[in-house]
This record gives sequence, structure tokens and C-alpha cells, in this order.
Amino acid sequence: MSSSLSEEPRTDAARCPVSHLAEKFDPFNDPYLQDPYSLWQEARQDEPVFYSPSLDYWIVSRYDDVRQIFMDTDSFSASISITPLKELCAAAIDELVKAQMVMGPSLVNEDPPLHTDRRKHIRDALVSPARIEQVRPRIREFANRYIDGFVQRGQADLVTDFAWEIPALVAFALMGVPDEDVERAKEYSGRLALFTWGYPSEEEQTQLAAGMGQYWTYAKEHVQRRLEEPTDDYISELIRAWRTPGNEELFDENYLVTTMMNFLFAGHETTTNATANGLRALMENRDQWDALCADPSLAPNAVEEILRYSSSVIAWRREVVKDVVVGGVELPAGSKVLAVTGSANHDESVFPDAEKFDITRSNAKKHFAFGLGRHLCLGAALARIEMQIFLEELSRRLPHMRLVAGQDFAYSPNTSFRGPEHLRVEWDPSANPIEADRPS
Ligand code: HEM
Repeated sequence: MSSSLSEEPRTDAARCPVSHLAEKFDPFNDPYLQDPYSLWQEARQDEPVFYSPSLDYWIVSRYDDVRQIFMDTDSFSASISITPLKELCAAAIDELVKAQMVMGPSLVNEDPPLHTDRRKHIRDALVSPARIEQVRPRIREFANRYIDGFVQRGQADLVTDFAWEIPALVAFALMGVPDEDVERAKEYSGRLALFTWGYPSEEEQTQLAAGMGQYWTYAKEHVQRRLEEPTDDYISELIRAWRTPGNEELFDENYLVTTMMNFLFAGHETTTNATANGLRALMENRDQWDALCADPSLAPNAVEEILRYSSSVIAWRREVVKDVVVGGVELPAGSKVLAVTGSANHDESVFPDAEKFDITRSNAKKHFAFGLGRHLCLGAALARIEMQIFLEELSRRLPHMRLVAGQDFAYSPNTSFRGPEHLRVEWDPSANPIEADRPS
């Protein structure tokens, strides 16, 4: 277990922070991206809290310490959680200015008391039981529509043909993007993790900023349409909450556009990557996939184990706003912290045999894939349902699929979002279990 606050703080580490792990830790290089887990295992054991001079962040890897960071909202502010790690170049700024993009704060990087009031309304509009029930059949319909597209082909890339597409469609459905606009809106939805959590080249940064600018313009139009004519979607519900007497100060138009913008980042790549990580883990641990195919009621716990074993969000940021001790190390106010949730999820003190992928693990749900506490992911219920339906439908229609042998997996070079960019599988379509899925 991690050191407790009652232990003597290791002030020497705070004064002279460069360590052997700091020298090894390069979150943007390929060996780390392929397998971050072995470095974290070493960190948890040898140096659970270390300072990375190249990032200028304190890296925190043990379960209890990560929990402390999420729970102690007096000492840790969420303000920096989505600030780009790399400063924007002039050309990227030009793209954002061209789109008149004025990204204010949104829930994920706000602190109380504003965060508390807004979160309540956003939660009620986004993930009420009625909203979840409204979207559940659509998720299954989307999943089957995409499977229909490749089931007779005998091979697919489960990222580009499936997991990239559906979470975006679900997000658009929730926001009330009309069907005729979906293709256009989808074009703006790139792999944005690199923009916020990576060190993109100036060219990449500018390209990503251009896509964000276009999406901003679209989101602005959409919010304006809904201001004139609210319907029953998530954005309309927020407008209703804002118009309720006493709530005039709650939002403004810019906040709603920012919310729509961030909603896509929050709900798309996260869910795509988690699905792809999960399918990879299941294909590589065939006994687990076979067990799921034989008993689909294992799907909910399989989702938890996927999120624990190979989460799509592996590290989250906080700013220290009050001197604090974490894992016995003093962190002064003003320092920045990377809470490595992916490492916490493999902490043996909580998850015995943590490197084993076991879809029946009894405490899998204790993972921090969705964060914890005040900012706990508001889309967690939705992401879980999406992943569960994906597993149910794929295992029902393609239980015999396998990974294409010998493929390499590419991961976006960033600190926080992790998932393979492609996941190629193959199967014999004449052996599809559902007759209508077999080629005629
Ligand atoms: C597997 C998929 C997902 C993962 C791993 C994930 C992970 C996270 C994490 C780590 C946070 C930050 C928690 C913190 O600061 O303590 C977060 C916040 C948030 N997520 Fe998710 N997320 C996922 C899917 C979604 C979806 C589908 C939506 C929208 C429907 C969503 C909406 C949000 C929102 C609105 C917040 C901000 C909550 C707040 O600050 O109060 N997420 N998510």
C-alpha cells in the first residue's frame, strides 16, 4: 500500500527531484506506448511519486495516492485537466481565431462552487434514466447496422469499421444533431487526444485546430437553432434548465457551445479506445472471449475488467493549489500532477494478479478509468452500456473472429488517451452462426 500522510515527507525528493524513473519515463515514445504497464509496475514499487522534468509534472502511480488526488479537491484543482500540454503555434491559433472560437471552461476543468451547480443540471440533462432508455435501442441498432456492413466480408478493422463510428453517432444522437448533418459533423471529429495530451508537430496541431474550428462553427449553429426551437435532446434540456427562473447565471451561450464541443471529445475517442482495447484483450485471451460467447451475461463485468485492465484514459491531470503530501512526497502549491489511473488499476494491493485479464474478477469495478469523486465521468453509465452492447452483438454474430496474425498496433503519442488505431480481425463468413449473415 502507498505511504500515508502520517509518514515523514520526503522533502529531499521535492528539492532534487530527478530520478532514474524520470529518465526512463517518456510517454511519447513507442516502447512506452506499446506497453506502459511494465514501467508503472516499477514506479509503484520503487518510486511511486516522481518528478518528470521533461513534462514538468509529478507522476503518481499507486492506487491510494491516485485516489487521494481525486478526492482532495481542496488541494487539487481540475483547472488544467484539458489544457493542451504543448503551447499552440501561431498557425493553430489563427485557425481558432478564424472560427471565432472562444473556449471557456467546461465542467471537466471547473472547480466548486460553479462546478457543483452546473454538474447537477448537466447530469440531469445527459444521463437521466429516461435519456439512457431513449438511447439504448439506438446503440444496438447502430451496432448491428455496422456489423451488417462487414459480417459477410470475412475481415474487418474493428476500429475504423465499428468502434470509431458508433460512439460518435451516439453522441450526435444525444445532442440532437439531425441525421442529415451527421456525415458533416463526423468529419470534424478527429483524433483529438494528440492536440490536448500530446506534442503534435505544428502541422498536425494546425490541422487539428482547423477541424476543431469547423466543429465549433457547427456547434454554434446547432445551439442557436435549439435556442430558437428546443426539442428533447441534451442541448435543449440544458437550455430549459438555463431558462428556469433563478438559473439565469448558470450558463451562457458560449458555455453551451463549449459544452457541445467538449461533449464530443469526452464521449467519442474515450469509448472508441476502450472498446478497441477490450476487443484486443479478448482476442488475445481467447479463453475469456470464448467464455463471453458462451455466456453473454458476463458482458457487464467484462466491461469493468476491460476498463481496469486496459483503460482508454490512463492518466489525468490536476494542479496543486495548496501544499500537500502525496505518497510521502511534498508537492508545493503550483506544481502539476499526472495521476496515472492506468497504473492504479494494476496496483496489486487492490487487484491481486493484476496483470491477468479475468472477466470474472470480483472487484474489477474498483478501477479509476472514469476518475473518482466530484468529477467522476458523467458519461460512465452510457459508455458502459455502449461497450456492453458492442460485446453482446459481436459475440453473438462473430464468435469465431480472430486477430489477423502479425499485425502491429499503433497508439497515439500522448499522455492520457490510449487505444489501438486499428484492430484487424478475420473469420470464415460461411461459418457465421446466424444463417442470414452467411454469404448466399
Ligand atoms: C470509456 C469511456 C470513457 C472514459 C474512460 C471516460 C473517462 C473520464 C475521465 C477520466 C473523466 C475525468 C474525471 C475527473 O476529472 O475526475 C471524465 C469526465 C467526464 N466525462 Fe467521461 N469517459 C468516458 C466516456 C464518456 C462519455 C460517453 C461521455 C458523455 C456521454 C463522457 C462525459 C464526461 C463528462 C461530461 C465529464 C466531466 C465530468 C465533471 O467534470 O464533472 N465521458 N471522463
